[in-house]
Formats: sequence, C-alpha cells, structure tokens
Amino acid sequence: MSQAARAAGAFERLHGRAPAGVWSAPGRVNLIGEHTDYNGGFVLPFALPHRTAVAASPRSDDVLTVSTLHDNDRAETADPVQIASLEPGSVSGWAAYPSGVAWILREQGFSQGADLVVAGNVPAGAGLSSSHSLECATALALLGLLGASPSRSDIAKWIQHAENDYVGAPTGLLDQTASLCCTESHVLFLDVRSGESDQVPFDAARHELEVLVIDTRASHSHTESGYGDRRRGCERAAELLGLSSLREVELSGLDAALSALPEELRPLVRHVVTENNRVLETVALLRADKYAGIGPQLSASHASLRDDYRVSCDELDVAAESAESAGALGARMVGGGFGGSAIALVHADGRAEVEAAVTAAFAARSFTAPRMFTAVPSAGAGQDR
Ligand code: GLA
Repeated sequence: MSQAARAAGAFERLHGRAPAGVWSAPGRVNLIGEHTDYNGGFVLPFALPHRTAVAASPRSDDVLTVSTLHDNDRAETADPVQIASLEPGSVSGWAAYPSGVAWILREQGFSQGADLVVAGNVPAGAGLSSSHSLECATALALLGLLGASPSRSDIAKWIQHAENDYVGAPTGLLDQTASLCCTESHVLFLDVRSGESDQVPFDAARHELEVLVIDTRASHSHTESGYGDRRRGCERAAELLGLSSLREVELSGLDAALSALPEELRPLVRHVVTENNRVLETVALLRADKYAGIGPQLSASHASLRDDYRVSCDELDVAAESAESAGALGARMVGGGFGGSAIALVHADGRAEVEAAVTAAFAARSFTAPRMFTAVPSAGAGQDR
C-alpha cells in the first residue's frame, strides 16, 4: 500500500471523514557534493522511492493537530497547537518538524489551521532525510489547503529557515531542495549560490549498474555539534580570505588560499573546493555516458570526508571499504556523517556479493547488522489525491 493510501486510511479512522487531500515527499541520497551546500557550492542528489505522506483537511479555527502512524499502524497524536502562538522552542520532539513548517508559513503570510495525519517509510535516523520529507510534505499540504503555490525554491528556503531557527539544526539547502525538486530517472544538479538547477538523466540500470544504499544504523552523539563546528570553520575561513563563501575558491587557487589560512582550517577548505570539483566531474561523466568513471569520484569524496572534513566514522568507513573490496566501483558516506548511510556503485550482477561482504565485515566487528537496498531515482514531492 502506498504511504498516501496509509495516511488517507488513518485519517478516516481518526477523524471520521476523508481528508481534503494527500501530499507526499521523498527522502533522498546525494550522489556527490557533501558539505558543499552551506558553502554556496554544488550538490547532485536524487529522490528515493521512500516517501512521507500527509493527509490533511482544513480547520476553521487556528489549530494544528498532527498524528503520525508508527510501523505497526498505531497512531500517536501530538498536543494540538495554536498556529498564532507558535514560536521557536514551543514544540519539541517529532512534532517540531510539522509545527516549524506551520510557523514559517505563518511568517510568510500563509496561516492555515489543519488536521494532519502522517505516514511514511523513509528510514528514520539513517541520514536519508526522513525529517525533511515530513517538512516538505507538510508544507505542500498546508499550502495546498490554501490553494497557494509559491515556487519550490522559495518553499525550500522557508523550510531551511524553519529547520535552522525553529528546530535548531544549522543545516543547508540540499535535503529540502532534493525532496521538492528531484524528478524520476534524474539527479538534480544544483548550484546553491545561484539557485540554478538542471535535471541530469541518471539511468544506472542501462549500464547494468546499481546504487546500493547501505544504512549502517549507526548514529553518533556528536552529530549536531560536529556539523555546526564544520560549518563555522568554513565561514571563518571564507571571512579570513575576504570572500562571501568558500564557493569563490577555484581549484586553481586552492594552494594560494590554503597558504593564507591557519593550519586547522586548511583541511576543511581543501574538502569543500575539491568536492565542488568532483560534482562538476561527475556531471560531465554522466553527460558523456561514462558511468563507470563515477566510481573513483565517489571514493575520492569518501576519502576527503574521512581525512580532511573528518565527518566519517568506523561504520561508514567499513561500509565503503568492504563494498569496494567486493567489487563496487566506488563508495562513499552520504549526508552529514557520523553515522547514517553510505552508497556504493555496484555491477547489478555483483550486488549480492557486495551485500554479503558488507554484512560479513559488520558482523566481524560486532556492529549492528546494516540494512541495504538499491536506490532508483524517483519522483519529487507532490499531491497524491
Ligand atoms: C545534512 C544537511 C544538508 C547537508 C548535508 C551534508 O544532510 O541537512 O544540508 O549539509 O548534511 O552535505
């Protein structure tokens, strides 16, 4: 059953009537371009088939109610909130995501009381943007009830604002843009500085290749502080270089930039500048139909995130290394790091071997067993019914 059908069914059970509409939004993986978004750089995500759906009906008062379905279909309902009284910090836990969206939409002049029922299958805590898929589906639902359709890039910026200022996570634009703007069979080539984007066809199956997602199921406690520290380090480096962001450092000017910076900031800058270049190389390879050439770009990205940016962890390193030893063309961690998921570009007929090798490597180190699935670029957010 689709998540939209699950959300609609649960809405009827809880509210005794059909919802006015159902909207859903996907999780994402990023093929390459990590920790570049908040530096004004390039990213190349695609949408997962896994989605979060929000069934919604308007209310005549200013109240927002949100219920969410657990895996066993048990519904959990958050305390109702008055939209007019929402302020950063007023709601915590999972309900902070939908109420943060209601808050930012109110700030933009779109206030709509509503009953929302959420159902989803984006793995939580796996670095695959389950929370962003909830935020994006909530935003489309509340705007849809109002009959409003602002641009997707505006909605993405508002959601980033809600995430930064309401939920309190200093994240960039990658995840919500991916969820809102990706399309089936494509990766989204986004230039965060200019806001320009291009849908680049991505059909690994035609090359008998697959993108295997490896959810390490690891989550380390320094995730949030580690992310914020890196981000502040990049901003400090840009400031010392007299630039508005690290995007302005070209690969050809990297050495000069590094020599002008204190030692501790150099690895951060080296990662960001070389990673932007790897995104451009990967796009060129895809456009030239040279898919196998992407493998080394993925591996170089992982090494840079591990050694220079220092956001990997043992589980992600073991996932990438064991996948490559078993024949993957390349592998890398995805998302913020310190746990979550990795991806590996594998030959379709070698996938089982890679999966077995990763599973064995995790067992040998007594890590929690990883979960793996093949990811196919899927549709972005939209209205289901
Ligand atoms: C997280 C953030 C994104 C991005 C990635 C790293 O997923 O939400 O904005 O910074 O980490 O690329």
